[in-house]
Amino acid sequence: MMQVEILGSVTEFKQQNGTLTIKTAEAEARVYLYSPTIIRINISKKHSEADTSFAVIQQLLTDFKLDESATTIEINTSALKLRINKSPLRFNFYTADSKPLSEDDERFGTNWQNERVITYRKLYADEKFIGLGEKTGNLNRRGTVYTNWNTDAVDYTLYSDPLYKTFPFFIGLHSGLTYGLFFDNTHKSYFDFGATTDEQMSWFGADGGDMNYYFFGAQGVAKIIEDYTWLTGRMEMPPLWSLGYQQCRWSYMSAKEVLDIAKTFRKKKIPADVMYCDIDYMEGFKIFTWNKKTFPDPKSMMDELKSMGFRLVTIVDPGIKIEEDYQQYNEGLANDYFAKYPNGENYTGYVWPGRCHFPDFFRQDVREWWGAAFTALTDAGVDGFWNDMNEPAAWGQNMPWIVKFGDKYMPEVRNAYGMEMARATYDGTRKILGNKRPFVLTRAAYSGTQRYAAVWTGDNTGTDEHMLLGQRLVNSLGITGLSFTGVDIGGFSGDPTPELMVRWNSLGTYTPMFRNHAIKGSKMREPWQWDKANEQIIKKDIEQRYKLLPYIYSSFYQSHTTGLPISRTLAIYKPFDELIYDTRFQNQFMFGDALLVAPVESTKTTTDVYLPKGNWYRLSSNEKYKGGKTVNVPSPLTDLPVFAKAGAIIPMQSVTQSTADSGDGILQIHIWNGKEANEFVYYEDDGLSYDYENGAFYKRTIRFNPIKKTVSLSAVEGTFSSRFHKVKFVLHGFDRVKLKNVLLDLKDGEMEVIF
Ligand code: GLC
Repeated sequence: MMQVEILGSVTEFKQQNGTLTIKTAEAEARVYLYSPTIIRINISKKHSEADTSFAVIQQLLTDFKLDESATTIEINTSALKLRINKSPLRFNFYTADSKPLSEDDERFGTNWQNERVITYRKLYADEKFIGLGEKTGNLNRRGTVYTNWNTDAVDYTLYSDPLYKTFPFFIGLHSGLTYGLFFDNTHKSYFDFGATTDEQMSWFGADGGDMNYYFFGAQGVAKIIEDYTWLTGRMEMPPLWSLGYQQCRWSYMSAKEVLDIAKTFRKKKIPADVMYCDIDYMEGFKIFTWNKKTFPDPKSMMDELKSMGFRLVTIVDPGIKIEEDYQQYNEGLANDYFAKYPNGENYTGYVWPGRCHFPDFFRQDVREWWGAAFTALTDAGVDGFWNDMNEPAAWGQNMPWIVKFGDKYMPEVRNAYGMEMARATYDGTRKILGNKRPFVLTRAAYSGTQRYAAVWTGDNTGTDEHMLLGQRLVNSLGITGLSFTGVDIGGFSGDPTPELMVRWNSLGTYTPMFRNHAIKGSKMREPWQWDKANEQIIKKDIEQRYKLLPYIYSSFYQSHTTGLPISRTLAIYKPFDELIYDTRFQNQFMFGDALLVAPVESTKTTTDVYLPKGNWYRLSSNEKYKGGKTVNVPSPLTDLPVFAKAGAIIPMQSVTQSTADSGDGILQIHIWNGKEANEFVYYEDDGLSYDYENGAFYKRTIRFNPIKKTVSLSAVEGTFSSRFHKVKFVLHGFDRVKLKNVLLDLKDGEMEVIF
């Protein structure tokens, strides 16, 4: 019979070295402060001194004050009040002025069923929930349940759960207040946002491990994301080329095919930066090998690609083929690097190469070995490393639970396997490439993976519904610190209609990672595989991406420094505006600070868009709209509904053929008229190296002041010289301006112009 234990009354407590330890007959709870807005609660049946986290990179504060009464212990910070009830032990969070943020259910609080640990929380009448990263369903997760168990979600549907990644972090919104909760536990975990509890409770729990969560009490969704990414890390500046257009396919079968595709981009003057090699570049799917027949001279292929301004990304899967004389197999065997059964036998599973062993990425020596092997790719000139199948996947999708990773069993840490592989890939390639930024892309992930890699949403399908779902996944990943995200544009499985391909590509312009990818056997997907007219639309949308790169790169800088995503659900911008959760509008998002994008099915030539309060301009026509209402707008395939916020400041450039192309040297600063002053931090660096960490960047604040009628640029900060030497101000929505098509020298000192 299952043993149920519910946290009972406090028997003793003490505060020492930044830790409040509380005991009950059943368990021990520990409370730690990380900042005035972040409190960690750890409740375990038996506290383990080996208190590690894959996600958290910050240290606790060593001192805080307690206020005790007969019935409670309180911790009060400038922003947050934690009231701990002693009998029974319950944890309740309030704002500093005592408004409830989140409270344990009085009856059940935290409890165990054997090893399974669960916390039940009070559900507020108007409470909404957002987050959990890559999860299907609606923006508002109220009334739904989710499981975290990284899965190779082949042919996932609009409702599948779980998918590939685990981010046990959500944000609750009620009574005009916000809070966040990160349940840092890598076991299979569960979230129930009031689905079946008679509107009384929400709950979260896991099959094992501790009730270990970080509570965030900052007010505002953006502030909570900032705190969460402070705790778990933010992305580095990506290589600039990875923000260009990426062309992928399973697979371009030979060096000749890769080169032919790249040449066609250049011949047709369709901008692009990245080509991919999927699994067929390898010899028998053996990782770190090249197929000698089809890729006889990888280095010369790479040289030719580079001479055309292309970079190459190659796939690597964790499964190491069992084959004598294969280097990775021999080394792995000799050094005991593979995941094992408890009797010491190596675990064997089937993936693309057939019978495989799986590196134990939880061990540092294994990570180093894996990382060092990338010279097989980097020596040829590969710059990007695509980590796939790292849930980990094995045919049958049921790796035995008795397999060990490090000193843990698979169920304890499965959800972090992909993250550890991405970490090994990132650390290894960063070391090999010296001062050059690697680009790492991973399918499986856990909280904190943004420190190592970009992610994509796996094997989606070529339908309108999947395009919209993909946008929700991207927007939701952004809430959980993953800013560099993408979907397979066109849909991995199935053949999109030409209309869907065109529409999806236009949304790709406004997706942090812009990658076209397709399953083996599908129709070819490159921009010219559609009819002439469609090719022209696709080309124009890719050109738009390149025009926006100065804005996009600056937005990545903002993400690097604050954690705010690039694609932002409107819940970040207007969390308490009911209409943004309306299923008709929930896919809309802000792309950076200035642009609102409304994804729309390929079949709709007009569509309803909800514009939050304020004035907006259609990007394509400068038509002005008053917000705070729904508008019906044309949405032909040539014109995805995108709106600039009044007062928007968007730095742009002329079209280039790739990010290696230096362009015309003119920085265009586009401004849309608005009543309020606004500013935007423009950021540039060499786009390739880590020199920006030592001050080699070019940063200045662009300000628009409608009262003084000025646009200004602050003096340059940093030691990098801009690749632009002229500046042009392009003003939209103004009646009459003096400044029209005037080219000015871009000076390093403060600049101010009157319009
Ligand atoms: C997996 C990946 C997909 C890739 C394929 C072959 O299905 O998700 O992107 O093309 O494997 O490597």
